[in-house]
Amino acid sequence: MAKINSIGILTSGGDAPGMNACIRAVTRTAICNGMKVFGIYRGFEGLMSGEFKEFTTESVSNTIQRGGTILKTARSDAFRTPEGRKKAYEQMKAAGIDALIVIGGNGSLSGAQIFASEWDVPVIGLPGTIDNDLYGTDSTIGYDTALNTIVECVDKIRDTATSHERIFFVEVMGRDAGFLAQNSAIASGAEAAIIPEDLTDVDQLAQFIEHGIRKSKNSSIVLVSEAKKDGLGGAMYYAERVKKEYPEFNVRVTILGHLQRGGRPSAYDRILASRMGYAAIEALNEGQRNIMIGIANDKIVYVPLTRAIKQNKPIDKELINVLSDLSI
Ligand code: F6P
Repeated sequence: MAKINSIGILTSGGDAPGMNACIRAVTRTAICNGMKVFGIYRGFEGLMSGEFKEFTTESVSNTIQRGGTILKTARSDAFRTPEGRKKAYEQMKAAGIDALIVIGGNGSLSGAQIFASEWDVPVIGLPGTIDNDLYGTDSTIGYDTALNTIVECVDKIRDTATSHERIFFVEVMGRDAGFLAQNSAIASGAEAAIIPEDLTDVDQLAQFIEHGIRKSKNSSIVLVSEAKKDGLGGAMYYAERVKKEYPEFNVRVTILGHLQRGGRPSAYDRILASRMGYAAIEALNEGQRNIMIGIANDKIVYVPLTRAIKQNKPIDKELINVLSDLSI
């Protein structure tokens, strides 16, 4: 197998806190291993247009604590086409880049997987997304920080919900995965969560809230995963339904939106990103190709890219029972 002398690194899709810590880890580990490192700007867009810059150890100084991504990011339609991927391959070859490291979520790693199989390019994926929806890893880079951000917000909403005796529907990200909604509901002591994996019948939900309020509570907080791509669901939808059916309730909606993606990464995400970035270069040195670096039971694991993107990561159903029992 040809020796890898030079790597390119890019971030793609939604940014996630800890991406910079990961870029830093990849860059410095690669340099320690005698490799050249090229930062590729704006995700696959920059790969196709040749927006590359050679990185030194200083290029990533003072970045471990910063949210967002110093490499910028994008969602690229052109890379979905064979012509786009051909351009990307030609740019890589012209710059002498032997292997590609892609930090991103499901869509980005799917693009990376197609590229790797089409052009026989060694690719290592790193799971960078607040959604935590990649199969084969217990956590993704950015998920822990986003969860903490949500919990901090819900704690604040709780103050006003209690004071006004209101029901709040708080919408969080994750249109296809309920990890953020379910776990932030548990961590903030919310009354319920509505997640795509366990679509709750709205009447049951309203009855539950009514029951809860009549019994002992003067307010309720419900965490809701954002609407799916087809527009179904979301906090507004459930709030409107409850308002219509239970006009006696004082209902409000808060959509947390993109603030969930920002901010300084938590210590957990910094360590995870550092371990995963280091592992990506180790894996290349071992001759690994077309895998995603994951973490399982606190150990680094290699997950074939095809499995990481194709298999839906299941949510532990026990979490649903935990929330329902603890919110009585
Ligand atoms: O995949 C990360 C994510 O934040 C999802 O949770 C969300 O559905 C999506 O990105 C939002 O994308 P955009 O920033 O392009 O609106």
